Amino acid sequence: MLSLRLIALLSAASIAVQATPVVDSSCAITNFDQVASVVDKCTDIVISNLEVPAGETLDLEFKKTGVKVTFEGRTTFGYKEWKGPLLRIKGKAITVVGAEGSVLDGQGQLYWDGKGGNGGKDKPKFFKIKATEGSHFKNINLLNCPVQCTSIDHSGPLTLSGWNIDVSAGDKNNLGHNTDGFDINTTDGLVIEDAIVKNQDDCIAVNQGTNFVFSNLECYGGHGLSLSVGTSHDILKNTVRNVTFTNSVVAKSRNGIHIKTHTNSGQGIIEDITYSNIRMTDIWKYAVNIEQDYKQGKPTGHPTDNIPIKGLTLKQVSGTLTGDESVPVYIICADGACSNFNWSGVSFTGAAHKSNCTMIPTGFSC
Ligand SMILES: *[C@@H]1O[C@H](CO)[C@@H](O)[C@H](O)[C@H]1NC(C)=O
Ligand SMILES: *[C@@H]1O[C@H](CO)[C@@H](O)[C@H](O)[C@H]1NC(C)=O
Ligand SMILES: *[C@@H]1O[C@H](CO)[C@@H](O)[C@H](O)[C@H]1NC(C)=O
Ligand SMILES: *[C@@H]1O[C@H](CO)[C@@H](O)[C@H](O)[C@H]1NC(C)=O
Repeated sequence: MLSLRLIALLSAASIAVQATPVVDSSCAITNFDQVASVVDKCTDIVISNLEVPAGETLDLEFKKTGVKVTFEGRTTFGYKEWKGPLLRIKGKAITVVGAEGSVLDGQGQLYWDGKGGNGGKDKPKFFKIKATEGSHFKNINLLNCPVQCTSIDHSGPLTLSGWNIDVSAGDKNNLGHNTDGFDINTTDGLVIEDAIVKNQDDCIAVNQGTNFVFSNLECYGGHGLSLSVGTSHDILKNTVRNVTFTNSVVAKSRNGIHIKTHTNSGQGIIEDITYSNIRMTDIWKYAVNIEQDYKQGKPTGHPTDNIPIKGLTLKQVSGTLTGDESVPVYIICADGACSNFNWSGVSFTGAAHKSNCTMIPTGFSC
Protein backbone atom coordinates (compact mmCIF):
# COMPACT_ATOMS: atom_id res chain seq x y z
CA MET A 1 0.00 0.00 0.00
CA LEU A 2 2.72 2.38 1.08
CA SER A 3 4.90 1.56 -1.91
CA LEU A 4 1.98 2.06 -4.25
CA ARG A 5 1.34 5.48 -2.79
CA LEU A 6 5.03 6.27 -3.10
CA ILE A 7 4.98 5.27 -6.75
CA ALA A 8 1.90 7.44 -7.28
CA LEU A 9 3.66 10.36 -5.58
CA LEU A 10 6.81 9.87 -7.59
CA SER A 11 5.00 9.74 -10.90
CA ALA A 12 3.00 12.83 -9.92
CA ALA A 13 6.30 14.57 -9.13
CA SER A 14 7.83 13.59 -12.43
CA ILE A 15 4.73 14.77 -14.29
CA ALA A 16 5.01 18.07 -12.39
CA VAL A 17 8.66 18.41 -13.43
CA GLN A 18 7.85 17.64 -17.05
CA ALA A 19 4.94 20.06 -16.96
CA THR A 20 7.19 22.93 -15.88
CA PRO A 21 7.85 24.95 -19.02
CA VAL A 22 11.48 24.63 -20.10
CA VAL A 23 12.88 28.17 -20.32
CA ASP A 24 16.00 27.80 -22.36
CA SER A 25 17.35 31.25 -21.58
CA SER A 26 17.43 30.92 -17.80
CA CYS A 27 19.67 28.25 -16.37
CA ALA A 28 21.32 27.31 -13.12
CA ILE A 29 24.72 25.79 -12.49
CA THR A 30 25.18 23.99 -9.19
CA ASN A 31 27.54 21.28 -10.40
CA PHE A 32 30.71 21.61 -12.48
CA ASP A 33 29.46 19.02 -15.00
CA GLN A 34 26.71 21.44 -16.04
CA VAL A 35 29.03 24.28 -17.04
CA ALA A 36 29.72 23.48 -20.70
CA SER A 37 26.10 22.85 -21.75
CA VAL A 38 24.69 25.82 -19.80
CA VAL A 39 27.31 28.18 -21.24
CA ASP A 40 26.46 26.89 -24.69
CA LYS A 41 22.67 27.37 -24.56
CA CYS A 42 21.70 29.91 -21.87
CA THR A 43 21.64 33.70 -21.73
CA ASP A 44 20.69 34.22 -18.06
CA ILE A 45 22.84 32.02 -15.87
CA VAL A 46 22.92 31.62 -12.10
CA ILE A 47 25.94 29.90 -10.57
CA SER A 48 25.09 28.74 -7.07
CA ASN A 49 27.51 27.45 -4.43
CA LEU A 50 29.63 25.82 -7.11
CA GLU A 51 32.68 23.74 -6.17
CA VAL A 52 35.15 23.97 -9.03
CA PRO A 53 37.38 20.87 -8.98
CA ALA A 54 41.12 21.26 -8.40
CA GLY A 55 43.11 22.00 -11.55
CA GLU A 56 40.07 23.05 -13.61
CA THR A 57 39.26 26.51 -14.97
CA LEU A 58 35.67 27.67 -14.56
CA ASP A 59 35.62 28.76 -18.19
CA LEU A 60 32.71 30.96 -19.23
CA GLU A 61 33.20 31.96 -22.85
CA PHE A 62 30.03 33.29 -24.45
CA LYS A 63 29.50 33.30 -28.19
CA LYS A 64 26.17 35.13 -27.82
CA THR A 65 26.13 38.86 -27.05
CA GLY A 66 24.51 40.17 -23.87
CA VAL A 67 24.65 37.15 -21.58
CA LYS A 68 24.00 37.70 -17.86
CA VAL A 69 25.75 35.66 -15.16
CA THR A 70 24.98 35.84 -11.45
CA PHE A 71 27.15 34.27 -8.76
CA GLU A 72 25.28 33.20 -5.63
CA GLY A 73 26.66 31.81 -2.40
CA ARG A 74 30.21 30.52 -2.14
CA THR A 75 32.12 29.52 -5.27
CA THR A 76 35.23 27.55 -4.32
CA PHE A 77 38.21 26.40 -6.35
CA GLY A 78 39.96 23.18 -5.31
CA TYR A 79 43.63 23.21 -4.38
CA LYS A 80 46.24 22.23 -6.94
CA GLU A 81 49.66 23.61 -7.79
CA TRP A 82 49.25 24.92 -11.32
CA LYS A 83 49.19 28.22 -13.26
CA GLY A 84 45.40 28.60 -13.52
CA PRO A 85 43.42 30.68 -14.13
CA LEU A 86 40.74 29.54 -11.73
CA LEU A 87 38.06 31.59 -13.51
CA ARG A 88 37.91 33.00 -17.05
CA ILE A 89 35.04 35.04 -18.46
CA LYS A 90 34.99 36.13 -22.07
CA GLY A 91 32.19 37.82 -23.97
CA LYS A 92 30.49 40.83 -25.54
CA ALA A 93 28.12 43.15 -23.66
CA ILE A 94 28.02 40.70 -20.77
CA THR A 95 26.74 41.48 -17.30
CA VAL A 96 28.31 39.60 -14.42
CA VAL A 97 26.87 40.15 -10.96
CA GLY A 98 27.86 38.98 -7.50
CA ALA A 99 24.64 38.52 -5.55
CA GLU A 100 24.43 39.85 -2.00
CA GLY A 101 26.62 37.74 0.29
CA SER A 102 28.31 35.87 -2.56
CA VAL A 103 32.04 35.19 -2.63
CA LEU A 104 34.57 33.67 -5.01
CA ASP A 105 37.09 31.93 -2.76
CA GLY A 106 40.52 31.16 -4.27
CA GLN A 107 41.74 29.50 -1.06
CA GLY A 108 45.04 31.38 -1.28
CA GLN A 109 45.93 30.41 2.27
CA LEU A 110 46.65 26.88 0.99
CA TYR A 111 49.31 28.25 -1.41
CA TRP A 112 50.95 31.27 0.20
CA ASP A 113 54.63 30.76 0.95
CA GLY A 114 55.93 34.35 0.78
CA LYS A 115 57.28 33.81 -2.77
CA GLY A 116 54.28 34.78 -4.91
CA GLY A 117 54.96 34.21 -8.61
CA ASN A 118 58.74 34.08 -8.10
CA GLY A 119 59.16 30.55 -6.79
CA GLY A 120 57.95 28.09 -4.24
CA LYS A 121 54.63 26.50 -5.07
CA ASP A 122 53.02 27.01 -8.49
CA LYS A 123 50.08 29.27 -7.80
CA PRO A 124 47.08 29.71 -10.07
CA LYS A 125 46.12 33.19 -11.25
CA PHE A 126 42.58 33.82 -10.15
CA PHE A 127 40.32 35.71 -12.57
CA LYS A 128 40.92 36.53 -16.26
CA ILE A 129 38.53 38.87 -18.04
CA LYS A 130 38.21 39.53 -21.77
CA ALA A 131 35.06 41.59 -22.16
CA THR A 132 34.01 44.19 -24.70
CA GLU A 133 31.04 46.21 -26.05
CA GLY A 134 30.04 47.78 -22.75
CA SER A 135 30.34 44.75 -20.49
CA HIS A 136 29.74 45.33 -16.77
CA PHE A 137 31.01 43.29 -13.81
CA LYS A 138 29.23 44.36 -10.59
CA ASN A 139 29.67 43.64 -6.90
CA ILE A 140 32.16 40.81 -7.30
CA ASN A 141 33.72 39.63 -4.04
CA LEU A 142 37.09 37.91 -4.46
CA LEU A 143 38.61 36.26 -1.42
CA ASN A 144 42.18 35.01 -0.89
CA CYS A 145 43.74 35.09 -4.34
CA PRO A 146 46.66 32.59 -4.48
CA VAL A 147 48.67 35.13 -6.58
CA GLN A 148 47.47 37.87 -9.04
CA CYS A 149 43.74 38.47 -8.49
CA THR A 150 42.26 39.94 -11.68
CA SER A 151 43.80 40.23 -15.15
CA ILE A 152 41.96 42.32 -17.72
CA ASP A 153 43.18 41.86 -21.28
CA HIS A 154 41.91 42.69 -24.80
CA SER A 155 38.89 44.39 -23.26
CA GLY A 156 36.79 47.54 -23.41
CA PRO A 157 34.54 49.31 -23.21
CA LEU A 158 34.22 47.64 -19.82
CA THR A 159 33.08 48.74 -16.35
CA LEU A 160 33.85 47.07 -13.03
CA SER A 161 31.94 48.49 -10.08
CA GLY A 162 31.42 47.65 -6.44
CA TRP A 163 34.19 45.05 -6.20
CA ASN A 164 35.68 43.85 -2.97
CA ILE A 165 39.01 42.03 -3.18
CA ASP A 166 40.13 40.76 0.20
CA VAL A 167 43.52 39.08 0.49
CA SER A 168 44.21 40.61 3.89
CA ALA A 169 44.66 37.13 5.42
CA GLY A 170 47.90 37.02 3.38
CA ASP A 171 49.41 39.74 5.61
CA LYS A 172 49.98 37.12 8.29
CA ASN A 173 53.71 36.27 8.45
CA ASN A 174 54.09 38.08 5.09
CA LEU A 175 53.00 34.94 3.24
CA GLY A 176 50.81 36.58 0.58
CA HIS A 177 52.90 37.98 -2.30
CA ASN A 178 52.28 39.31 -5.87
CA THR A 179 48.57 39.46 -5.12
CA ASP A 180 47.90 42.38 -7.52
CA GLY A 181 44.28 43.55 -7.37
CA PHE A 182 43.79 44.44 -11.05
CA ASP A 183 46.37 43.97 -13.85
CA ILE A 184 45.42 45.66 -17.10
CA ASN A 185 46.88 44.98 -20.51
CA THR A 186 45.87 45.74 -24.12
CA THR A 187 42.57 47.39 -23.27
CA ASP A 188 40.74 50.50 -24.55
CA GLY A 189 38.01 52.09 -22.41
CA LEU A 190 37.91 50.82 -18.85
CA VAL A 191 36.21 52.15 -15.73
CA ILE A 192 36.84 50.66 -12.29
CA GLU A 193 34.81 52.39 -9.59
CA ASP A 194 33.76 51.88 -5.98
CA ALA A 195 36.23 49.09 -5.27
CA ILE A 196 38.03 47.97 -2.11
CA VAL A 197 41.32 46.08 -2.42
CA LYS A 198 43.24 44.61 0.54
CA ASN A 199 46.35 42.83 -0.70
CA GLN A 200 50.17 42.69 -0.85
CA ASP A 201 51.04 44.14 -4.28
CA ASP A 202 49.71 46.76 -6.70
CA CYS A 203 46.12 47.78 -6.09
CA ILE A 204 45.92 48.57 -9.81
CA ALA A 205 48.75 47.93 -12.28
CA VAL A 206 48.33 49.26 -15.80
CA ASN A 207 50.67 47.57 -18.30
CA GLN A 208 49.16 48.82 -21.53
CA GLY A 209 46.05 50.60 -22.71
CA THR A 210 44.14 53.81 -23.27
CA ASN A 211 41.20 55.75 -21.85
CA PHE A 212 40.88 54.48 -18.29
CA VAL A 213 39.11 56.03 -15.29
CA PHE A 214 39.65 54.62 -11.81
CA SER A 215 37.55 56.27 -9.11
CA ASN A 216 36.46 55.76 -5.53
CA LEU A 217 39.02 53.09 -4.79
CA GLU A 218 40.21 52.11 -1.34
CA CYS A 219 43.54 50.31 -1.38
CA TYR A 220 45.05 48.76 1.76
CA GLY A 221 48.29 46.94 2.46
CA GLY A 222 49.72 46.81 -1.05
CA HIS A 223 51.87 48.79 -3.49
CA GLY A 224 49.46 51.48 -4.61
CA LEU A 225 48.14 52.89 -7.87
CA SER A 226 50.66 51.86 -10.50
CA LEU A 227 51.68 52.00 -14.11
CA SER A 228 54.27 49.40 -15.10
CA VAL A 229 55.14 49.85 -18.74
CA GLY A 230 57.59 48.20 -21.11
CA THR A 231 57.27 44.47 -20.70
CA SER A 232 56.76 44.04 -24.46
CA HIS A 233 59.07 44.62 -27.46
CA ASP A 234 56.18 45.92 -29.57
CA ILE A 235 55.82 49.72 -29.41
CA LEU A 236 52.02 49.59 -29.56
CA LYS A 237 52.04 47.35 -26.53
CA ASN A 238 54.11 49.80 -24.48
CA THR A 239 51.62 52.64 -24.81
CA VAL A 240 49.59 54.00 -21.93
CA ARG A 241 47.49 57.08 -22.68
CA ASN A 242 44.70 59.02 -20.98
CA VAL A 243 44.48 57.43 -17.56
CA THR A 244 42.83 59.11 -14.55
CA PHE A 245 42.87 57.97 -10.94
CA THR A 246 40.51 60.04 -8.80
CA ASN A 247 38.79 60.32 -5.40
CA SER A 248 40.69 57.42 -3.89
CA VAL A 249 42.47 56.35 -0.73
CA VAL A 250 45.72 54.39 -0.37
CA ALA A 251 46.55 53.24 3.16
CA LYS A 252 49.23 51.15 4.94
CA SER A 253 50.95 50.62 1.62
CA ARG A 254 54.49 50.56 0.26
CA ASN A 255 53.71 53.24 -2.33
CA GLY A 256 50.82 55.57 -2.99
CA ILE A 257 51.54 56.31 -6.66
CA HIS A 258 54.10 54.32 -8.64
CA ILE A 259 55.05 54.72 -12.30
CA LYS A 260 57.85 52.54 -13.57
CA THR A 261 59.24 51.91 -17.03
CA HIS A 262 61.39 48.97 -18.06
CA THR A 263 64.74 49.71 -19.68
CA ASN A 264 65.22 46.41 -21.50
CA SER A 265 62.16 46.62 -23.74
CA GLY A 266 61.30 48.34 -27.02
CA GLN A 267 60.06 51.90 -27.37
CA GLY A 268 56.81 53.15 -25.95
CA ILE A 269 55.10 56.13 -24.35
CA ILE A 270 53.19 57.14 -21.25
CA GLU A 271 51.00 60.16 -21.95
CA ASP A 272 48.26 62.21 -20.30
CA ILE A 273 48.11 60.67 -16.82
CA THR A 274 46.18 62.31 -13.96
CA TYR A 275 45.95 61.54 -10.27
CA SER A 276 43.45 63.82 -8.52
CA ASN A 277 42.10 63.89 -4.99
CA ILE A 278 44.19 60.99 -3.73
CA ARG A 279 44.51 60.66 0.04
CA MET A 280 47.29 58.51 1.50
CA THR A 281 47.94 57.30 5.04
CA ASP A 282 50.81 55.29 6.54
CA ILE A 283 52.87 54.96 3.36
CA TRP A 284 56.13 53.29 4.36
CA LYS A 285 58.37 53.74 1.28
CA TYR A 286 57.36 56.29 -1.37
CA ALA A 287 54.21 58.40 -1.53
CA VAL A 288 55.05 59.13 -5.16
CA ASN A 289 57.66 57.14 -7.10
CA ILE A 290 58.41 57.76 -10.77
CA GLU A 291 61.25 55.67 -12.16
CA GLN A 292 62.60 54.93 -15.62
CA ASP A 293 65.23 52.47 -14.46
CA TYR A 294 63.56 49.07 -14.12
CA LYS A 295 65.30 45.94 -15.34
CA GLN A 296 64.35 42.34 -14.57
CA GLY A 297 61.95 43.45 -11.88
CA LYS A 298 64.31 45.82 -10.04
CA PRO A 299 65.33 49.48 -10.16
CA THR A 300 68.94 49.87 -11.29
CA GLY A 301 69.61 53.58 -10.68
CA HIS A 302 70.34 53.93 -14.43
CA PRO A 303 67.28 55.42 -16.17
CA THR A 304 66.71 55.21 -19.95
CA ASP A 305 64.49 57.22 -22.30
CA ASN A 306 62.85 54.40 -24.30
CA ILE A 307 59.47 55.08 -22.69
CA PRO A 308 59.10 58.84 -22.09
CA ILE A 309 56.47 60.13 -19.67
CA LYS A 310 54.68 63.13 -21.23
CA GLY A 311 52.06 64.78 -19.08
CA LEU A 312 51.67 63.78 -15.44
CA THR A 313 49.14 65.87 -13.54
CA LEU A 314 48.81 65.54 -9.77
CA LYS A 315 46.02 67.59 -8.14
CA GLN A 316 45.27 67.42 -4.42
CA VAL A 317 47.47 64.45 -3.62
CA SER A 318 48.39 64.35 0.05
CA GLY A 319 48.94 62.23 3.09
CA THR A 320 51.19 60.76 5.73
CA LEU A 321 54.24 58.52 5.67
CA THR A 322 55.62 56.31 8.38
CA GLY A 323 58.80 54.39 9.28
CA ASP A 324 62.58 54.64 8.68
CA GLU A 325 62.52 54.07 4.93
CA SER A 326 59.90 56.64 4.00
CA VAL A 327 60.50 59.24 1.26
CA PRO A 328 57.72 61.57 0.05
CA VAL A 329 58.67 61.83 -3.63
CA TYR A 330 61.36 59.95 -5.55
CA ILE A 331 61.73 60.71 -9.27
CA ILE A 332 64.45 59.18 -11.42
CA CYS A 333 64.05 60.06 -15.11
CA ALA A 334 66.46 59.90 -18.04
CA ASP A 335 67.53 63.30 -19.46
CA GLY A 336 64.53 64.96 -21.11
CA ALA A 337 62.37 61.82 -20.86
CA CYS A 338 59.88 63.25 -18.35
CA SER A 339 57.96 66.38 -19.36
CA ASN A 340 54.81 68.36 -18.51
CA PHE A 341 54.66 67.30 -14.90
CA ASN A 342 52.08 69.74 -13.52
CA TRP A 343 51.42 69.28 -9.83
CA SER A 344 49.25 71.25 -7.44
CA GLY A 345 48.15 70.63 -3.87
CA VAL A 346 50.78 67.88 -3.42
CA SER A 347 51.97 67.59 0.20
CA PHE A 348 53.10 64.90 2.59
CA THR A 349 54.04 64.70 6.25
CA GLY A 350 55.88 62.27 8.49
CA ALA A 351 58.60 61.04 6.11
CA ALA A 352 62.00 59.96 7.50
CA HIS A 353 63.89 61.23 4.42
CA LYS A 354 63.71 64.14 1.97
CA SER A 355 62.30 63.91 -1.52
CA ASN A 356 64.83 63.13 -4.26
CA CYS A 357 64.14 64.13 -7.86
CA THR A 358 66.16 64.21 -11.10
CA MET A 359 63.49 66.53 -12.56
CA ILE A 360 61.34 69.02 -10.66
CA PRO A 361 57.62 69.01 -11.45
CA THR A 362 55.96 72.41 -11.98
CA GLY A 363 54.20 73.37 -8.75
CA PHE A 364 56.26 71.17 -6.43
CA SER A 365 59.54 71.71 -4.62
CA CYS A 366 61.82 68.75 -4.45
C1 LIG B 1 39.91 59.77 -21.78
O1 LIG B 1 39.24 58.59 -21.36
C2 LIG B 1 37.94 58.83 -20.86
C3 LIG B 1 37.40 57.51 -20.35
O2 LIG B 1 37.36 56.53 -21.33
C4 LIG B 1 37.07 59.43 -21.96
O3 LIG B 1 35.80 59.72 -21.44
C5 LIG B 1 37.73 60.69 -22.49
O4 LIG B 1 36.99 61.17 -23.59
C6 LIG B 1 39.15 60.40 -22.93
N1 LIG B 1 39.81 61.65 -23.29
C7 LIG B 1 40.47 61.78 -24.43
C8 LIG B 1 41.14 63.10 -24.64
O5 LIG B 1 40.55 60.88 -25.25
C1 LIG C 1 50.57 42.26 -22.29
O1 LIG C 1 50.15 41.64 -23.49
C2 LIG C 1 51.18 41.51 -24.48
C3 LIG C 1 50.61 40.84 -25.69
O2 LIG C 1 49.38 41.37 -26.04
C4 LIG C 1 52.34 40.68 -23.92
O3 LIG C 1 53.41 40.72 -24.85
C5 LIG C 1 52.80 41.27 -22.59
O4 LIG C 1 53.76 40.40 -22.02
C6 LIG C 1 51.65 41.42 -21.63
N1 LIG C 1 52.14 42.06 -20.44
C7 LIG C 1 51.89 41.60 -19.24
C8 LIG C 1 52.53 42.34 -18.11
O5 LIG C 1 51.17 40.63 -19.06
C1 LIG D 1 68.78 60.20 -4.79
O1 LIG D 1 68.60 59.14 -5.75
C2 LIG D 1 69.80 58.78 -6.40
C3 LIG D 1 69.45 57.80 -7.52
O2 LIG D 1 68.86 56.63 -6.99
C4 LIG D 1 70.77 58.21 -5.40
O3 LIG D 1 71.98 57.83 -6.08
C5 LIG D 1 71.05 59.24 -4.34
O4 LIG D 1 71.84 58.67 -3.33
C6 LIG D 1 69.76 59.74 -3.71
N1 LIG D 1 70.06 60.89 -2.85
C7 LIG D 1 69.58 61.00 -1.63
C8 LIG D 1 69.97 62.23 -0.89
O5 LIG D 1 68.89 60.12 -1.12
C1 LIG E 1 48.68 73.05 -14.30
O1 LIG E 1 47.52 72.74 -13.49
C2 LIG E 1 46.86 73.90 -13.01
C3 LIG E 1 45.82 73.44 -11.99
O2 LIG E 1 45.08 72.36 -12.47
C4 LIG E 1 46.27 74.64 -14.21
O3 LIG E 1 45.61 75.80 -13.76
C5 LIG E 1 47.42 75.02 -15.16
O4 LIG E 1 46.91 75.61 -16.33
C6 LIG E 1 48.26 73.83 -15.53
N1 LIG E 1 49.45 74.26 -16.23
C7 LIG E 1 49.90 73.68 -17.33
C8 LIG E 1 51.17 74.23 -17.89
O5 LIG E 1 49.34 72.71 -17.84
